Amino acid sequence: MKKVLSGITPSGRLTLGNYIGAMKNFVKLQDEYQCYFMVADLHAITVPQEPEDLRERSEANAALYIAAGIDASKSNVFLQSAVHQHAELGWLLTTLTSMGELERMTQYKDKSNGKESVGAGLFVYPSLMAADILLYNADLVPVGEDQKQHLELTRDLAGRFNHRYGECFTMPEPYIPKVGARVMCLDDASKKMSKSSTVPASYIALLDEPDVIRKKISRATTDSGAEVRYDVETKPEISNLMSIYAECSGLSLEDIRLKYEGKMYGGFKKELAEVIVNTLEPLQKRYYEIRESGEIHDILAQGANNASEIASSVLDDVKQRMGFLPSK
Ligand code: AQP
Repeated sequence: MKKVLSGITPSGRLTLGNYIGAMKNFVKLQDEYQCYFMVADLHAITVPQEPEDLRERSEANAALYIAAGIDASKSNVFLQSAVHQHAELGWLLTTLTSMGELERMTQYKDKSNGKESVGAGLFVYPSLMAADILLYNADLVPVGEDQKQHLELTRDLAGRFNHRYGECFTMPEPYIPKVGARVMCLDDASKKMSKSSTVPASYIALLDEPDVIRKKISRATTDSGAEVRYDVETKPEISNLMSIYAECSGLSLEDIRLKYEGKMYGGFKKELAEVIVNTLEPLQKRYYEIRESGEIHDILAQGANNASEIASSVLDDVKQRMGFLPSK
C-alpha cells in the first residue's frame, strides 16, 4: 500500500483553512493509502511558544484530526516530537543541504522579513520537513501551494542522498487539491487564512461557537457590488466566500451563483454562516467527547508506536549507509 505523510503545525488554533485545505483531504486519502498524520510540534518551536500553550494546542489539534474524521484504526496520528527519529534524520539531512537552497525558500523570506533576529530553526526547517517525509518513504504528500517549494527541496535531498549512498529513499510526489486549495482571510482576500494570525476576525477557528461564526461572516469584507459571482481577479472577497460555501455544502460554484442570482450579499452571508455552523457542529461535538474521554492519549501512543517502527528501520539504514557504527 502506498504511503502518505502530512502534518499541521500547532502554531495556533486550527482554522477553516486547515480543514478545507488539509484535513478534509486527509480523511479522503486514508481509505486508499497507509497514512501518517503528525502534529508537527517540532516545527512549531521555530518561533517562540509558551510551553503550556504548545502542550494544549498539540493535544487539541490531534483531537481535531480525529473529530474531523481521521480514523485511528486506519491512520497513524502522532506527535512529531514523540518519534525522535524526525529530529535525528533532520540533522543528517541538514548536513546535505546548502545554505543557498535554504536562502531561496520563499516561506523563510516571508517569515523572516522585517525581523531583527531570526532563529536558525526557521532557516533549517525545510531539512526537518524533508526528514518527516523521507522517514516513512512517503509516496504522496498533501501540501498547500506554499509548501511546494519545500517538497521540491525534499526531492532534491532524496536524490542527492540516493546518488551518494545508494537507493534508499522513495521520491515523494505532491498532492495539491484544486478546489479550495487556498482559503483567504475574511478581512483581506489577498492573504491566506492563517492560524497564527493575531486578528481573530480574519479566520474561522474550527472551535468557534456558532454566534462567533455568524458575527465573523457578517463582518467579512466584500466589494461594493451586489453580484454573487466567482471571479478571483475582480471579486476576490466574494470568490473566497463562495469557495468556502462550496467546500462546506458540496454545491458547485455555479449552483451557488444561480441560488443567489439577483439577491443581496446580506442573505448570501447569512446562509453561508449557517452552512459553516452546520459543517462544524458535528466536528465540535465529537471533539469535546474525545477530550472528555481522554482517548486521544491512547491514539497518540499507538500512532507513535507504529510510526517509530518504520522510522527506526529507515533511520538505521540511513546511518549505516552514511558510515555510522551500529549503536547496538
Ligand atoms: N488558508 C488555507 N487554505 C488552505 N489550506 C491551508 N492550510 C493552511 N492554511 C490554509 C493547509 O493546512 C496545512 C497546515 O500546514 P502548517 O500548519 O504546516 O502551516 P501553514 O500552511 O503555514 O498553515 P497556517 O495555518 O498558515 O499556519 P501559520 O499561521 O502557523 O503559518 C497545510 O497543508 C496547508 O497547506
